[in-house]
Amino acid sequence: MTQDELKQQVAKAAIEHVVPGTIIGVGTGSTANFFIDELAKIKGQIEGTVASSEASAERLKGHGIPVFDLNSVSEISVYIDGADEADPALHLVKGGGGALTREKIVLAVADKFVCIADDSKKVDLLGKFPLPVEVIPMARSYVAREIVKRFGGEPVLRDGFITDNGNIILDIHGLQIVDPVAMETELNSIVGVVTNGLFAARKADVFLCGTANGVEVIEA
Ligand code: 5RP
Repeated sequence: MTQDELKQQVAKAAIEHVVPGTIIGVGTGSTANFFIDELAKIKGQIEGTVASSEASAERLKGHGIPVFDLNSVSEISVYIDGADEADPALHLVKGGGGALTREKIVLAVADKFVCIADDSKKVDLLGKFPLPVEVIPMARSYVAREIVKRFGGEPVLRDGFITDNGNIILDIHGLQIVDPVAMETELNSIVGVVTNGLFAARKADVFLCGTANGVEVIEA
């Protein structure tokens, strides 16, 4: 099976977690795109969605799926999104697509987080995938120095990339993330950091992992 076929497989499986008659939180990235395409097939069964990026909002609207502003929504039954890395406890690294802040905000409102990814994303220890950190542009150099001082690693500016919120991304290479919850909290305490791509304090509740032998369901 190709990686895309594995992603498509978990996108289909995620439809079982869609709660009829409710608002669904929708993530960003290639796996989330497959999910949006599956969601289109049952769009009459949901009230609508909240999107974690402009790109996902456009794709949802293209399918005729209602997209609500988060400020007009008080409940999201389930948030469905991909990941760049998932450890055995279902702590995640996300933000490869640069949508980490809006992803975290939509997730904060959701009752449940279903992560969908192919099995290449499964790791024992987070950190091989460079950890994205969204930063206010004028704080770039200060934040990079603080990161090196506190955690080591090598922050690299994501060249030519501006987030939907008008900020930059520093990708931190060379980390070994032994305590994801502590690192998530400390990174967010650096002035100028908007948020970071560790989804550990709020991790996935269910991981639908696409393998050549079918979808493996891992629960936290
Ligand atoms: C975007 C994300 C994505 O979920 C993550 O990058 C995985 O993407 P893909 O499904 O394309 O592998 O966090 O900000």
